[in-house]
Amino acid sequence: MRAEFPKIEKSLELYHRAKKLMHPITQTLAKGPGQFTFGVSPIYVESAKGARITDVDGNEYLDYCMGIGPISLGYAYDKVDNAIKEQLEKGITFSLMHRLELEVAEKLHEIIPNAESIRISKQGADVCSAAVRIARAFTKRKKVAVCGYHGWHDWYIGTTTRDAGIPREIKELTTTIKYNDLDSVKMAMDADLACVIIEPVVFEEPNNNFLHHLQELCQANGTLLIFDEMWTGFRLALGGAQEYFGVKPDLAVYSKACANGMPIAFLTGRDDVMSLFETDVFYFTTFGGEALSLAATLATIEEMKEKNVPKYLNDLGASLMNKFKELIGKHKLESYISISGYPCRSIVNFIHPAIDALVAKTYLQQELIKRGIYFS
Ligand SMILES: Cc1ncc(COP(=O)(O)O)c(C=O)c1O
Repeated sequence: MRAEFPKIEKSLELYHRAKKLMHPITQTLAKGPGQFTFGVSPIYVESAKGARITDVDGNEYLDYCMGIGPISLGYAYDKVDNAIKEQLEKGITFSLMHRLELEVAEKLHEIIPNAESIRISKQGADVCSAAVRIARAFTKRKKVAVCGYHGWHDWYIGTTTRDAGIPREIKELTTTIKYNDLDSVKMAMDADLACVIIEPVVFEEPNNNFLHHLQELCQANGTLLIFDEMWTGFRLALGGAQEYFGVKPDLAVYSKACANGMPIAFLTGRDDVMSLFETDVFYFTTFGGEALSLAATLATIEEMKEKNVPKYLNDLGASLMNKFKELIGKHKLESYISISGYPCRSIVNFIHPAIDALVAKTYLQQELIKRGIYFS
């Protein structure tokens, strides 16, 4: 256990160089210096193996963030890396389709309940937008209801406070519903609502069969239901929340945990809806069939299946949550701090009204960094 703060001179030097050139310096909000205690936390990573990262100054940490979602098996996991290396010998991007596109689609068809049809892409936001576009085309309606985070594209970010650059006409087509609040869903339902896109679960559990009732309301209104399974897919269960809760949405989108860090995303759904991609709806991209990520996906999913990784994440996460709760009890901190969510994705809450939660988080991160733990 490290008793003092790590030396982070090289990190800081890179940070100051980047500040002159890049605005902002991070490409992923959750990895940027604003997310970690500035001045004591490392800013740039050099390498990683298993659950440990080494920063550019040579300090090692136990990483609780794991790539902000994608590193589901561990960094530099041999079985996945070997699959990538094997494919690298044969090529990355080609001028024809690659058989791995089909093999991945067949694998997803096996494990994801609603995967009658599959599209493959690169980013979470891409497949969210593709799902919304095809829902609009299928229903011949314009409006969208959202619940959760769905990436950087106009139709979603227009609902947030960071909405500069998005025309009012686009913003007016999206409405936000509240999780576990069927009244807010009913308010959004009208004859022009094409789809509801929702993170089926974040930290709060669905109450009183919320997801089942949401599906009923959508069906009654002729609105398509889209599950955004970026976090739940390959984590809560291999097939995601739709498998875990037994609610089959019309469309679903996946990314993050499915390729142990390689960039890939999927849209799955009803055949009659998805077949519009053949003709009326345009959705193609240069790197959609990039083969290293496809090879990594197959290897990751096979490993997850063989080792029952969702159960492992559940057991380990439950142990973390239980021990955290024990410590809260032991130190009588019930009115200050709590832990909630699911074992595979939990959150620490600072709940005392007199304490600024951001200050408390900064302090906790700072003290954990001293002990060699990278936490957010
Ligand atoms: C639930 C959810 N949907 C969509 C996205 C967007 O994915 P990407 O950042 O790959 O575009 C994210 C990313 O964090 C997410 O958490």
